[in-house]
Amino acid sequence: MNSIWAVVPAAGSGRRLGGEIPKQYREIAGAPLMEHTLRALLESPDIRGIVVALDPSDRRADAINSLADVRVQTTPGGAERADSVMAGLELLAQQGSEDDWVLVHDAARPCLPLESLTELIDRARQSGEGVILAEPVADTLKQVAENGQISATVDRQSLWRAQTPQLFPLFALRAALGRCLEEGLSVTDEAMAMERAGKPVHVVEGPSSNIKVTVEADLAFADLVLRKRGGQ
Ligand code: CTP
Ligand code: MG
Repeated sequence: MNSIWAVVPAAGSGRRLGGEIPKQYREIAGAPLMEHTLRALLESPDIRGIVVALDPSDRRADAINSLADVRVQTTPGGAERADSVMAGLELLAQQGSEDDWVLVHDAARPCLPLESLTELIDRARQSGEGVILAEPVADTLKQVAENGQISATVDRQSLWRAQTPQLFPLFALRAALGRCLEEGLSVTDEAMAMERAGKPVHVVEGPSSNIKVTVEADLAFADLVLRKRGGQ
């Protein structure tokens, strides 16, 4: 493993959360959400550079101080999350070398602790294989038929919720994701693309506080997590 880069998809419009301001710019714990996300990555000395994919019509990015960091560059995102990630990978492919790695981390996950990031990177270094943060499913899961009747209780023993960051060899991920996009598959995370390419991907347990802000209640939760961590 030579250098480790990061791609941060931040080109979404936050439809489910709604409101005037896309969620990555909503203020939590004294800063725009995306600022916390970028700071969490910039804290790691292992990350050589970060590419942030932004909506080309985005006029709010100037408010994000971390985007001015020397290790950060931006690129126009695409219609779907996977397109935005791909744009970041293409930029890095021009700058990186054959044995570089890349981690993809949602802009909408502002509560990533440095310990988890470090653990993820250490695990990839040890194994030489792809790794993602994930958490074991805690709820009882039901399979439900179209008429609303439960048809089965699903064994959750082996089920995990995928989080980000997700860390892979740069060129292998670019090839795998590129193939999915060509085939018109809707890929919701990078691990899925690597799995389809037949590559092994492992999980490292991430904290349940590493949420993706999706709905209004998540904003309050993330605000609380960040304030507690900041000792406020
Ligand atoms: N994202 C992106 N480009 C897109 C869509 C999403 O870069 N075309 C980013 C979002 O900005 C976010 C991450 O991917 O940081 C995870 O996506 P999601 O939580 O679904 O965010 P949105 O797509 O913005 O929200 P929604 O699906 O509710 O519209
Ligand atoms: Mg979305």
